[in-house]
Amino acid sequence: MSFQTGLLKDNALKGKVVLVTGGGTGLGKSMGHYFCHLGARLIISSRNESVLQETAREMQKQHGEEVLALPCDVRDYEAVAGMFKEAINQVGRVDAVVNNAAANFISPTERLSPNAFHTILDIVLKGTANMTLVAGKHWINSGQAGNFLNIVTTYAFTGSGYVVPSAAAKAGVLAMTRSLAVEWAKYNIRSNAIAPGPFPTEGAWSRLLPDEMAKQFDPAKRVPLARVGEHQELSNLAAFLLADQSGFINGEVVTIDGGEWLRGAGQFNDFDKVPKELWDQMEKKRKGK
Ligand code: HXC
Ligand code: NAP
Repeated sequence: MSFQTGLLKDNALKGKVVLVTGGGTGLGKSMGHYFCHLGARLIISSRNESVLQETAREMQKQHGEEVLALPCDVRDYEAVAGMFKEAINQVGRVDAVVNNAAANFISPTERLSPNAFHTILDIVLKGTANMTLVAGKHWINSGQAGNFLNIVTTYAFTGSGYVVPSAAAKAGVLAMTRSLAVEWAKYNIRSNAIAPGPFPTEGAWSRLLPDEMAKQFDPAKRVPLARVGEHQELSNLAAFLLADQSGFINGEVVTIDGGEWLRGAGQFNDFDKVPKELWDQMEKKRKGK
């Protein structure tokens, strides 16, 4: 079975202009590659201009279409508005925004400074709000349809210790997704989210599983399917949610985690550890009665 194969038909995103925040690295970069492969015109944005330019060049070389790299810090509303204006000036329109930029670190909450806590809230929640306000106002004022795809995480609904600012911010993004799915539907603007489980990236792994942690915690072991996700699997889902063919999906959060979060939720899921012999004994006793 190949988890690395593209799912959608050729040109599934032809004619669409997609803006991906955090599009220079990790999952944003992988999704961007696939959107280009499917014919989309891509704009990527993040803080680090040289990383963005390098990714844009790589994508252009591979897919033949120009990729626009526009640096900006999503925490700064004016910077986001300027970046979006530049995208419109250069490309003419933006049809979809993937709110993928994020920040995170692992820490006992009582060790965090207020600035550390606020930094994560600012990038994840305020950054997504800034991008959403800028694109939403533009789409509404110009009478154009729009599509938001917000990358959250499964602890947006469960919460999680040791990543509390991120959990609080992602929960806010999920609430925003569902709220605007209803409020802005009248403007033909869809809002959906994806909640990924573990997908190896340099950005997430270096911050959430630094050094010793990586030796002690194997993310694949928490997943019922006993593996981590492949970037192409996430890209397939994201491309589907951006395509017109998913046009009736609005306000949904799609989990893609191999069953990870439910594994911790079901009270009897740990019964995986019960040996076959014990099940045999119990069955024998029951049938004997
Ligand atoms: C505690 C920390 C810290 C850490 C920084 N700080 N790193 N506190 N533990 N590991 C504190 C600093 O001391 C400072 O507080 C405050 O946070 C801001 O730090 P700066 O370095 O000044 O901030 P900045 O330069 O803006 O960088 C932001 C960053 C950085 C979050 C610290 O890591 C970053 O840019 N990250 C972006 C990419 C990223 O995080 N990717 C992972 C996404 S993974 P004081 O009080 O000292 O001033 C993800 C996965 C979700 O979201 C689910 C996985 C399953
Ligand atoms: P990543 O490579 O570190 O991606 C984060 C991106 O956000 C980077 O490109 C970064 O670029 C950008 N960014 C950070 N702060 C920014 C700011 N202030 N303004 C603009 N851009 C900023 O990590 P990733 O794993 O691919 O994460 C991508 C998304 O998936 C995130 O939303 C994350 O929460 C989510 N997610 C990941 C996993 C996983 O297992 N990997 C699981 C669940 C959810 P710059 O540094 O250049 O700004």
